[in-house]
Amino acid sequence: MSIQTTLNPYIYPVSSQPEKSPFNAGETLQEKTSPLTVLLLGSGGRECALAWKIAQSPALKHLYIAPGNGGTGAYGQNVDLSPLDFDAIARFVSEHGVDMIVVGNEDPLVAGIYDYFQGREGAPLIVGPSKAGAALEGSKDFAKQFMVRHNIPTARYRSFTAETVAEGEKFLEELRPPYVLKADGLAAGKGVLIIDNLDEAKASLREMLSGMFGKSSATVVIEEFLKGIECSVFVLTDGNGGYRILPVAKDYKRIGEGDTGPNTGGMGAVSPVAFADDVFMKKVEERIILPTVNGLKAEGITYRGFIFLGLIEVGGEPMVIEYNVRMGDPETEVVMLRIASDLLPLLRAAAEGCLGDMPLAIDPRYATTVMVVSGGYPGSYPKGKVITGTDECGDAILFHAGTKLNPDGTLVTSGGRVIACSSYGNDIDEALAGSFKAANALEYDGKYFRRDIGADLKAILNLKS
Ligand code: AMP
Ligand code: GLY
Repeated sequence: MSIQTTLNPYIYPVSSQPEKSPFNAGETLQEKTSPLTVLLLGSGGRECALAWKIAQSPALKHLYIAPGNGGTGAYGQNVDLSPLDFDAIARFVSEHGVDMIVVGNEDPLVAGIYDYFQGREGAPLIVGPSKAGAALEGSKDFAKQFMVRHNIPTARYRSFTAETVAEGEKFLEELRPPYVLKADGLAAGKGVLIIDNLDEAKASLREMLSGMFGKSSATVVIEEFLKGIECSVFVLTDGNGGYRILPVAKDYKRIGEGDTGPNTGGMGAVSPVAFADDVFMKKVEERIILPTVNGLKAEGITYRGFIFLGLIEVGGEPMVIEYNVRMGDPETEVVMLRIASDLLPLLRAAAEGCLGDMPLAIDPRYATTVMVVSGGYPGSYPKGKVITGTDECGDAILFHAGTKLNPDGTLVTSGGRVIACSSYGNDIDEALAGSFKAANALEYDGKYFRRDIGADLKAILNLKS
């Protein structure tokens, strides 16, 4: 089947910003289009999907993934480097002629990898924000203050520390249940508590402030509970007012079917999202994306990379639940399938601060992913289980997450989320059939996956038709 492409309807250069030339002074077209050596940081399904997409680029010379996983080696060369060891990364960059670093996960960004390389001789381009920009994810209090400053719709909130715990309890009394308590700092996706009972919420506030999530919960954001359906919007911005909106996705965070049980990193994803139609996306662009991109610029915060808007639709209106400063996982495992354009020149242009009018073509087909996970996840789980069935997955694209290739070539589990089974389809059912076929075909001890990925979106589509 041929890949049909349509132009993304959400490509609007920001008219108030002068468009910079995509060329640096004295640079020739030859240099501009010379192939790039890229270092991708991270080891999850997200990085496997980014590697898959980047590896298809004619503009790529060589792709390294640090540290990568049992699947990323199919698209580039895994290198045994920690994404947080900036000195080792700098040595690798100079020894291997790396032109551009694509940062997959948030930790190096929040730790300041962008700032680390500024002003260094031979510094590579970096796709990702400065440390100041990464605070949009690294500090929920900073993110909320930013949203208030720029009039971006979000839940009413206040922040508290150990000194103001009594005021925090009073604020809880003013709110209606359920109560939403968020650790200010990074907490590996576990820092948000949603509690029905006021006394329990007060007790949890005290526990958080006395170190439930270490230093991350020394400040706690308490906010109003918002009821609605969530989606993930991704923006690639060049820090100069230029941006592209990537395909919208919905992920499924809870471990159990029907959205029950504990939160996970994400059990599956679907793109497009039925309720994120043109009317909704116009509101998202005008009320959230433009004020975010322009607000960062106005505050002098360098931000050349992905912005992940965790949104909730409340009565037809979009509100921001959270910012992340990277792509989502497992959303990337569907978003990459729907980007028909070569991604590498777009990443390069974003990192250089000049997206200009570079087009972003979107594949109109559906893409879905179903994550197969280890038994016990998101609690404790065994590792080292032998994985078979990878050659019985039909047309699905397997994005490895927690896998490892043993020296003898055996593929084994090495994490909670094991493999994202991604598939295209002309409609949501066809895409899901491809993903579920693969999820069923993969075998290892304790395999689990949610069989209801996409069910809510199918119900919305049925109502619309
Ligand atoms: P986060 O770690 O910030 O993504 O939050 C985890 C999840 O908690 C979100 O995906 C939402 O489902 C939920 N959540 C966070 N904030 C709120 C809120 N103000 N109202 C309702 N649900 C929320
Ligand atoms: N899937 C949600 C996240 O990546 O944070």
